[in-house]
Amino acid sequence: MTAVRTVLLTGASGVVGTALIPELAPAHVVALVHRTPCADATESVVGDVTAPRLGLAPADYASLAARVDAVVHCAAHTGFSGGRQVTEDVNIAGTEAVVAFAADAGAPLYYVSTAFVARTELTRRSLGRGTGDASARPEDYLDSKRMAEQVVRDSGVPAVLIRPSVVIGDSQTGAISRFQGLHGISTVLLRNLLPLMPMPATSRLDFVPCDVVARAIASLVFDRQSEGEVWITAGRAAPTIEVTIDTAVSVGAELGIKVNRPRMVEPEMVDRLIRPVFIDPLPPPARRRFDDLLAMTALFVNAPVFPSTLGQLPRQPTALTAEQVTDAYRASLIYLAHAKKLVAPVAARVGAPA
Ligand SMILES: NC(=O)c1ccc[n+]([C@@H]2O[C@H](COP(=O)([O-])OP(=O)(O)OC[C@H]3O[C@@H](n4cnc5c(N)ncnc54)[C@H](OP(=O)(O)O)[C@@H]3O)[C@@H](O)[C@H]2O)c1
Repeated sequence: MTAVRTVLLTGASGVVGTALIPELAPAHVVALVHRTPCADATESVVGDVTAPRLGLAPADYASLAARVDAVVHCAAHTGFSGGRQVTEDVNIAGTEAVVAFAADAGAPLYYVSTAFVARTELTRRSLGRGTGDASARPEDYLDSKRMAEQVVRDSGVPAVLIRPSVVIGDSQTGAISRFQGLHGISTVLLRNLLPLMPMPATSRLDFVPCDVVARAIASLVFDRQSEGEVWITAGRAAPTIEVTIDTAVSVGAELGIKVNRPRMVEPEMVDRLIRPVFIDPLPPPARRRFDDLLAMTALFVNAPVFPSTLGQLPRQPTALTAEQVTDAYRASLIYLAHAKKLVAPVAARVGAPA
């Protein structure tokens, strides 16, 4: 088996790409950068997955294809509010272009999809519930990721479909290159702006630290795995929303932030009883924020546990434990609280009631 010497990484400046670069360091990493520069890559080329030949000049494309041994495709439109067209252009047409590059390079493709392709039936629209004023349309994103997976499967290119759940910060430091949806919810929780969580207490929140995601992907690349589906998820170790909120309350107490537990309720009760009285009279921006929260949390409500491949990868021989997942969330909360300046000054905490 020949060693992997040169890797093309798309989406190198993103959350997953940023965590991946150090893990791919044994190889020469060529980052395909789009709008955001990527200081840590060994080499950067400016490109666009929606443009012909990835936006590269014909000679540059050919010379890159001649030296790349593996392609890791992380570039995507990951927002839920960008609209169907841009989501499809980047996620489906962009994946077609990257698949074509992998074929030209004769290199295996590591396509970073999402575990939530398994949950499209849980979007508010699929469930037949109103989406209200939500700007978040998870169905556009999830449809595009499912179609992109199909593009990869139909191509015949040797490829691994990689499905992370929600990516959070580093398991030790909590650091992440850009805050994600779960960070947004955690921020309003720490600010006591979330009196109600539209999820039953037993629903599980599946998240994985970015360093675990990066190590798992790098392990696939360097072990030259070239087929299959890999679920980078907490699986049975995923905490319930109740445990997640308890973690936020206890981290808040350590940091001098008093966090009130939101009431956890079934979305059906929100629609039937709470919305007409409390939500409908709100000003449009507040209503939209609430409907966006409903759109995101719908993907977790009473959802089956994700499969997990962690523990079955040669360089990731153990699955995540519930304790590791909760500790990683603690690290993310502490990082978030400092970054958002939510931590009470030490002077205010000294002598504060326990
Ligand atoms: N973050 C998560 O929680 C999570 C969970 C599960 C799966 N995933 C999947 O993991 C992959 C990486 O996600 P991420 O969170 O790292 O995404 P991200 O932080 O939103 O970054 C997206 C990356 O794609 C690049 N990009 C966007 N449009 C492009 C274009 N037209 N041409 C070339 N590059 C383009 C962006 O560069 P510019 O900013 O310069 O445009 C950026 O580097 C995605 O496939 C996503 O679906 C993510």
